[in-house]
Amino acid sequence: MKVSSILVHVLSVSSLKGGVGKTTVTLGLASASFAKGLRTLVVDFDPQADVSTGMDIDISGHQNVADVLASPKEKVVRSAIAPSGWTKGRSGKIDVLIGSPSAINFDPPHPSIRDIWKLEEALTHIENEYDLVLIDSAPSLNALTRTAWAASDRVAIVTEPGLFSNSAADRALRAIEEIRRGLSPRLQPLGIIVNRVKIQSLEHQFRIKELREMFGPLVLNPQLPERTSLQQAQGAAKPLHIWPGESAEEMANHFDQLLERILRAAHLR
Ligand SMILES: Nc1ncnc2c1ncn2[C@@H]1O[C@H](COP(=O)(O)OP(=O)(O)OP(=O)(O)O)[C@@H](O)[C@H]1O
Ligand SMILES: [Mg+2]
Repeated sequence: MKVSSILVHVLSVSSLKGGVGKTTVTLGLASASFAKGLRTLVVDFDPQADVSTGMDIDISGHQNVADVLASPKEKVVRSAIAPSGWTKGRSGKIDVLIGSPSAINFDPPHPSIRDIWKLEEALTHIENEYDLVLIDSAPSLNALTRTAWAASDRVAIVTEPGLFSNSAADRALRAIEEIRRGLSPRLQPLGIIVNRVKIQSLEHQFRIKELREMFGPLVLNPQLPERTSLQQAQGAAKPLHIWPGESAEEMANHFDQLLERILRAAHLR
């Protein structure tokens, strides 16, 4: 297996549960990375293909992630990558490896070792053209998510503050450790991103305190508040960093800080 380039950094954004904000975090980080001028690739590894939609992708004439998983050759990989519509009228490079509902066909209950390494194999052909690769994953620890992790340096676990979030985060961290030991020594947790925090909620404050007691510095700062500006930018398929208003600016700033944390991890590797 190849030794990954020291320049590119690959981050999976994952969770055990659906709807906690993986795609929102991926889009926010992608927007921060684009604003910073990093050459960015976003891999849409969720069969719902939400991140492709949020990045304004024209899929006509393109192959997609399912074709790549069927045949991770350079030609197929290149033809499954499209520039994000975010670049219209702007300079910079931000591409998407296009998602597809057919990716579900590559989620067997007992994946072979070869299956698990398919994305890593695909990325070797093109990853030196990027500074950062972000992978949006499906809401489970299924074969697709493990395939994403095998191609990653770090995993960010997304969670909402809630009664079951601590055990879900714990299970996700254990699963990362299992893959690190059994398959990919380079894999490490980046940490836990707490999303949709209602600042006024005592219950949320209590759950975040609990998370900190359990996981210490793995609970990343800043936590992300609940803000409709995120939904508005997503609905318009625009990057958060150009969305008007104070709330979008506040969220853009939060994602800039999380991106800095990711880049620090990349340099420490
Ligand atoms: N901090 C937030 N503030 C307001 N809305 C949010 C926030 N985070 C996520 N949402 C909204 O919640 C919904 C679910 O978020 P998102 O799609 O990012 O979750 P997900 O984990 O990717 O879901 P899935 O598991 O289905 O892939 C979306 O409509 C999104 O806009
Ligand atoms: Mg999603």
